[in-house]
Amino acid sequence: MQIIAHRGASGEFPENTLLAFQQAIAQGADAIELDVFAVENELVVIHDARLERTTSGQGSLYAHSLAQLAQLDAGQGQSIPLLWQVLQLIQGKCWLNIELKGHDTLTPLLSLLDRAVNELNVDLSTLLISSFNHPLLAALKQAKPSIRIGALTANLPLDYAKFASELQAEAVHCDVDFINEDMVKDAKARGLKVYVYTVDGEQAVNAMHLLGVDGIFTNYPAKSRAILNSKD
Ligand code: G3P
Ligand code: MG
Repeated sequence: MQIIAHRGASGEFPENTLLAFQQAIAQGADAIELDVFAVENELVVIHDARLERTTSGQGSLYAHSLAQLAQLDAGQGQSIPLLWQVLQLIQGKCWLNIELKGHDTLTPLLSLLDRAVNELNVDLSTLLISSFNHPLLAALKQAKPSIRIGALTANLPLDYAKFASELQAEAVHCDVDFINEDMVKDAKARGLKVYVYTVDGEQAVNAMHLLGVDGIFTNYPAKSRAILNSKD
């Protein structure tokens, strides 16, 4: 079962910062998950469209320039990273799940992927792009058919993982509060991987292990790994 550091090692370090990503790598996470919005055609790594919860700023992200955002404290002296900086940091040390949050992320993402391949030698097969915005994922897949996508759901659809097959996704990303055996069976029968968010603590990690899911998004990569290892 893959350990995916949710917003980095965000249980112990400020979420979606380079520090949280460095720590996730140091803790041996298989992958990092992060959230991006587009500002001035750049992808910035932050979960909310407003600044108050995670930074020293206030108001809408979109009311700020990139230069203004760069001045904010995202916790422990960290700034809001650009996705580009995260790609520079990771350099193949783990795989990366980029969750598209804001509108207008498609064009900046396509341009960044080209730059990442040409300038950073990023292997696109180490990236998995996900979103709750399924038309956006469909547009991405059409623009770049080789890109790997993961279809997010926050509920349990009537036809289970069918929507993910229709999107030609590689994985379905499910909420831990809704995942069940039928969803896992349906996804597997369709050849889809199942990744579950957000899974912290012994009971939840063990339950996902028993369900046979392919990976968990966890805020505590080292602790979740230790729970898993204690079962071997
Ligand atoms: O990508 C999994 C999970 O991060 C989705 O929910 O709100 O934490 O971005 P959220
Ligand atoms: Mg997310």
